[in-house]
Amino acid sequence: MGKKIVHVVGTGTVGEPLIGILATFRKQFGIDEVTFHKRTPLLTDRSKVIAVGQKGAKLCVDKDRWQSFKDMSMEPCYEAEEAIERANVIIDCTPVGNENKDKYYKHYANNGRGFIAQGSEFGFGKMYARGVNDQVLKRGSDQFIQVVSCNTHNLAVLIDTIALGPEKENNLEESRFVCMRRANDLSQEGDFIPAPEVEKHDDPRFGTHQGRDAYHLFKTLDLDLDIYSSVLKLNTQYMHTIYFDLKLRRAISMDEVMRRITMNRRIALTSKKSTAAVFSFGRDHGLFGRILSQTVIVRQSLALRGDREVIGMCFTPQDGNPLLSSIAATLWFLYPDSYDNLLDNLRPYFFQEI
Ligand SMILES: NC(=O)c1ccc[n+]([C@@H]2O[C@H](COP(=O)([O-])OP(=O)(O)OC[C@H]3O[C@@H](n4cnc5c(N)ncnc54)[C@H](OP(=O)(O)O)[C@@H]3O)[C@@H](O)[C@H]2O)c1
Repeated sequence: MGKKIVHVVGTGTVGEPLIGILATFRKQFGIDEVTFHKRTPLLTDRSKVIAVGQKGAKLCVDKDRWQSFKDMSMEPCYEAEEAIERANVIIDCTPVGNENKDKYYKHYANNGRGFIAQGSEFGFGKMYARGVNDQVLKRGSDQFIQVVSCNTHNLAVLIDTIALGPEKENNLEESRFVCMRRANDLSQEGDFIPAPEVEKHDDPRFGTHQGRDAYHLFKTLDLDLDIYSSVLKLNTQYMHTIYFDLKLRRAISMDEVMRRITMNRRIALTSKKSTAAVFSFGRDHGLFGRILSQTVIVRQSLALRGDREVIGMCFTPQDGNPLLSSIAATLWFLYPDSYDNLLDNLRPYFFQEI
């Protein structure tokens, strides 16, 4: 058996905690080495390069920037393409995953390497959200996986749990979502907005990309669901908030809605009304500040209209859900028969009550 090497490309909002988690849980996950690619040599980013280095992750840079990193006292170990070639799994955490696929990854798609990209990279590979469609991952043929975005995870887990329920058959008449997005992440300095901003419905069938992506995620399970999403951006840095309205084909009681929610350990319930309070819980008790539950439903917002329409509001735990799915897909590539058990190492960070 060769060495198991995981390489993360990008050190931003998603990449930085992912490198940290993989390096910290290296032994428990059965990973021998974690490497990461940083594109830009910046003094302001030196602290994070040092911090993840102390956890055991190795810096990789482009050939023409090697000296600039050294000049800033950051010691690279491998060049960018060498790092891809050495790795068993490459997790792209940049907004240019599709571009990187064309430029680099497809030239290294031999020897069973696995490649994973994030939410913005539609078309990169098979869409995946942990717990929703694990059964469609096919060993050998699925070398490229796109982990869906954080809000798409949220839409998907709501549909999966409340509408599809234990039978996993199409019990959804139609679903409507309003995604109220934070303007930017705490780690990002740009793009803050002074007031709420409404976004365009740019997809005639699904409204926005969140609905479209959730549709295609369920399509991997041969389900053809009616999903429509709308988006506005709020002037907050905390968490996204989602209003959902699920019309079911079969009648349901509130007791059964609650039973389905509480049976699913990927869902947290909260009586807290504010994203600040939920975010703060994640900072205190989460993994690298992240809640790994895929959604946090506000208990008192849940309502049943008639006997077939479930309405409520929930929070998307920052980027916790794509982090979890990226780790799950990585472990699936490395250990397809036992990745589920390895994920148990993260169990303390799935909360059912917040
Ligand atoms: N932020 C979230 O909450 C969130 C949630 C779910 C999914 N996503 C998705 O995750 C991806 C990354 O988002 P992010 O928020 O982490 O972005 P980010 O904070 O802006 O970080 C982007 C990272 O990508 C690197 N990068 C950019 N262009 C690159 C290129 N051409 N080659 C190599 N590296 C490049 C940057 O490197 P340098 O800084 O070194 O130049 C930076 O480390 C996007 O697809 C996004 O849609 C984000």
